[in-house]
Amino acid sequence: MKNAFTYKNLEDIAGDCKKRGLPIRFEKHLDILYEPVEVGGRKAGNRLAIHPMEGSDASADGKPGELTFRRWKRFGSGGAKIIWGEAAAVAPEGRSNPHQLMMRKENSAELAELVKQTRHAHREKFGIAADLLIGIQLTHAGRQCSEKPFIAFHSPVHDSFGVPGLKGKPIPADYPIASDDYLKSLEDAYLEAARVAKDAGFDFVDIKQCHSYLPNELLAARSRPGDYGGSLKNRRRFIFNVVRRIRETLGDEILVASRLNVYDGVPHKKDSKTGEGAPVAYEIPYVWGWGADQRNPQKEDLSEPKKLVEALSSLGVAMFSISVGSPYWSPHLVRPFNKPVTGEYLSPEHPLVGVYRHFRLTDEMQRAFPIVPMLGAGYSWLRQFLLNAAAANIAEGGVAIAGVGRTAFAYPDFAADGRERGTLNSRKVCLADSMCSNMLRAWTDAGEKVPAGCPVRDSKYKPFCKELK
Ligand SMILES: Cc1cc2nc3c(=O)[nH]c(=O)nc-3n(C[C@H](O)[C@H](O)[C@H](O)COP(=O)(O)O)c2cc1C
Repeated sequence: MKNAFTYKNLEDIAGDCKKRGLPIRFEKHLDILYEPVEVGGRKAGNRLAIHPMEGSDASADGKPGELTFRRWKRFGSGGAKIIWGEAAAVAPEGRSNPHQLMMRKENSAELAELVKQTRHAHREKFGIAADLLIGIQLTHAGRQCSEKPFIAFHSPVHDSFGVPGLKGKPIPADYPIASDDYLKSLEDAYLEAARVAKDAGFDFVDIKQCHSYLPNELLAARSRPGDYGGSLKNRRRFIFNVVRRIRETLGDEILVASRLNVYDGVPHKKDSKTGEGAPVAYEIPYVWGWGADQRNPQKEDLSEPKKLVEALSSLGVAMFSISVGSPYWSPHLVRPFNKPVTGEYLSPEHPLVGVYRHFRLTDEMQRAFPIVPMLGAGYSWLRQFLLNAAAANIAEGGVAIAGVGRTAFAYPDFAADGRERGTLNSRKVCLADSMCSNMLRAWTDAGEKVPAGCPVRDSKYKPFCKELK
């Protein structure tokens, strides 16, 4: 699937979708994207968002660095009215890499400056920033922490994958699970992080429950003993406590949102013959996946995710961003790609199948809760036609807001261009070749972290490419 993207115009891509039996639609006119949308009593000036995209460019103590400021200011002047800031750790040991942002009091001044400069960049370009919502994603990387893994439960399927905190080795059978006391202390850390976000001027915090990080893993902790495992009531205890405490303590001073996996899927490994991703062996019932049908986990079962969204909405979560899969063991689910991360598996499906999975599952969630604003993902693979698909999805009621991830690195002003030109520039779009993901994981020989960006479209990142190891 080196480059499965060969379409010259909307008719080409629409025709191929039809041929493949994928009901992805494209709307020629983009006006609907530039209509405002209400989020928790606030207004976002259009229906385009920038998804969280980690740049791995914070200082060792989690303060935004020079490249963080540059990236965010480019997002600010890009025209999307929701900037959903990247993963920022609630505790030092919860970082997925040592150059991740950290939401701690000591970083308050720099975080406030980041928000101020992002807003300023937006106001300079568009004359108004009151309709711009800026959020930050609160995270604990759980199994993927860079210092040492924190696992919610042992899983024969997931434990076989190497993790950064054990220098790429799998989780041993006697590795301790994160204790209930530790989880309780983390609830305090999330509240503290939300307070830091509020003081810094963020409009919302996202309690991240996706991509196999700790709160996502807890949702699937059927086999875990104690207060946080077993029944759905226990598995959702952590997110409930966090949301409840933030809402009770900070009230309407900051909105609460959540990026939620609705389908974890089954981990994949590289097939030695084809080089493609293939599901690992598993037993039925498959109890290790959230939103996965226990009798056939390669199919979704959204009944629990729907119950969760219903309950969290009534606790005051104002907006959801819907995602699927894990960048560690099912990247084709999270971000449909042409070229894989170096050394990893080739996509086992045509990327349009992955794009449509995102659209279909988001559509199912949005239709179940039509008044709750939801964001969809998986748009970047569509390149210059992504806004046309977004407009069609929004017009049909299948999603309220379209978010872009990789495209935001490549083409941060995609929203402004769509408005001015009525179309996107094919020379600026993301090529889905996994360069940014390669960078996110890379270290130099000298032991320096490589920052993540788009070396194809942004010359600032070209020099770092040489460093990819
Ligand atoms: C380099 C890189 C960094 C990312 N960082 C985050 C992150 O901090 N938080 C998050 O929820 N998702 C993150 N993602 C996932 C994206 O937000 C997005 O869901 C994914 O790329 C699919 O959307 P797209 O097709 O528009 O790229 C990241 C993806 C990449 C490639």
